Amino acid sequence: MWQLRDRYLSAVLWCGAFSLLATLGFPWASGEEVNYDESKVPPYTLPDPLVCLDGTPVRDAKTWFEKRRPEILKLFQTYVYGKSPGRPADMWFETTSVDENALGGKAIRKEVTVHFTKDPSGPAMHILIYLPKDVKPPVPLFLGLNFWGNHSIHPDPGITLSRAWMRARPEYGIVNNRATEESRGKASSRWPVEKILSRGYGLATIYYGDLDPDYDDGFQNGVHPLFYRPGQTRPAPDEWGSIGAWAWGLSRAMDYFETDPEIDSKRVAVMGHSRLGKTALWAGAQDERFAIVISNNSGCGGAALSRRRFGETVRRINTAFPHWFCENFKQFNDREDELPVDQHMLIALIAPRPVYVASAEQDLWADPRGEFLACKAADPVYRLLGTDGLAATEMPPLDQPVMSTIGYHIRRGRHDVTEFDWEQYLNFADLHFGRKSSP
Ligand code: GCU
Repeated sequence: MWQLRDRYLSAVLWCGAFSLLATLGFPWASGEEVNYDESKVPPYTLPDPLVCLDGTPVRDAKTWFEKRRPEILKLFQTYVYGKSPGRPADMWFETTSVDENALGGKAIRKEVTVHFTKDPSGPAMHILIYLPKDVKPPVPLFLGLNFWGNHSIHPDPGITLSRAWMRARPEYGIVNNRATEESRGKASSRWPVEKILSRGYGLATIYYGDLDPDYDDGFQNGVHPLFYRPGQTRPAPDEWGSIGAWAWGLSRAMDYFETDPEIDSKRVAVMGHSRLGKTALWAGAQDERFAIVISNNSGCGGAALSRRRFGETVRRINTAFPHWFCENFKQFNDREDELPVDQHMLIALIAPRPVYVASAEQDLWADPRGEFLACKAADPVYRLLGTDGLAATEMPPLDQPVMSTIGYHIRRGRHDVTEFDWEQYLNFADLHFGRKSSP
C-alpha cells in the first residue's frame, strides 16, 4: 500500500518537474516532438485580412476601419486573447516619488501608482518613469512591462523595491517569491536606460505581476476579480486571460500619460519581450493611442504565424500556460487551420501605425521566419492605408534591419533583448516621430 502511494507520489513529482521544464521553455520536456524543420511546415492558407467575413473585398480605408478592422478585432477578442473591460470608473493616480536629479543629474525619476479602486489599499500598479532632463517637455516615451519588478531594470537605489509575488529565480535575489535588495538592477542588460535618455526619450515601466501574477490560479488574484459580475468566479470563455490583463495595464498607463504634461502621450512606443511582446502587440492592436508598437521575440501567440506549427504551437502554449489566452483559444489546439485569424492580422490591426518585429537567429522556439512572414502578410493592409508597408519580400540577412512602416530584423544570438535591439527601436522611433537619429 505504502509502496503504491510512494510510486504514485514520485510519478506526480516527475510529471510536475517535467511540466515545469516545459513551461520554462524546454520543449523536449513536454514529451512531443517539436518541429524545427522548414521542410516539415505543413501547407496552409492564411485568412485574407482584406476580405470580410461576408466575402466583401476591402478596397479602401473606409471599409477597413468601419467594417473589416472591427471584425478582426472581435475575432481576436472572442477566440484568442478574450475581451477586456475598459477603464475602471474609480481609477486614480498617485505620484509617490519624484527625484529631479536622478542618475547623477541626468534624469527625472518619478513613481506613479495607478489605483484601480477608490480604496488606496486595493489593487494597483506602479509605474516607474525616467525622463531626460535636457529635453523640453512633453517628452516622447517608451513603455514596457518588465518581468522582475521595476527595481530590476536599473541599480538606481531610489527605485522602490517591488513587494509583489514573483516567479522563483534565486540568482535574481528572489527569496520565497519576493524580491530582495539583491534583486536591484538584475535585468538591467535589457533596459539601457541611459542610452534611451541620451537619445531624447523617456522610459516608463511596470512590473507585469502587478496586473496578474504569472501562474494559473483560476484568476483569483490580479485584476480579473475586480470585474466579475455577481456570482462570476472566473472569466467566461471569451473573456481576458493574463495577456489580456497585462495589455489592459498598458492602456491604463496610457490613461495616466494623458494627464501628465511632461509626457507626450501622442508619441508613446509600447515595447515588450517574449510573452510581454505578445502583450505589447495585443495592447497596440486594441488601443490606437499607442503610436508605435514593438515586439521583441514574441513568437507563438505574438508575431509568429500559428499555422506554421514551427517551434511552439497553439497546443503547447495552451498547455504550458493555460492562463495566458482566453478559454476559447484551446479549441484550436492542433486545429490551427480552423482559426478564423492568424497573427498577421494582429499586426494588421496596428496599421497604419508603425510596428517593429524583432527575431533572434537562435530563437527557433519563437519561429523567426513565421514572424517575418506575418509582417509580410500584413503588408497589403499597410499599403492600402497609404504607407510603404514592409520594404522587404525576403527575410533580410542577419543584423540588417528593415526600416519601413513595418520594421523587422533578425539578429545574431538568442532569445533576449540586447543593445542591438534597442538601437533599432530608437532609430525606428526617430524615423517615425520625425526626429533626427544621432549616429
Ligand atoms: C516560454 C513560452 C513563450 C514565451 C516565453 C517567454 O518560452 O513558451 O511563448 O514567449 O516563455 O515569455 O519568455
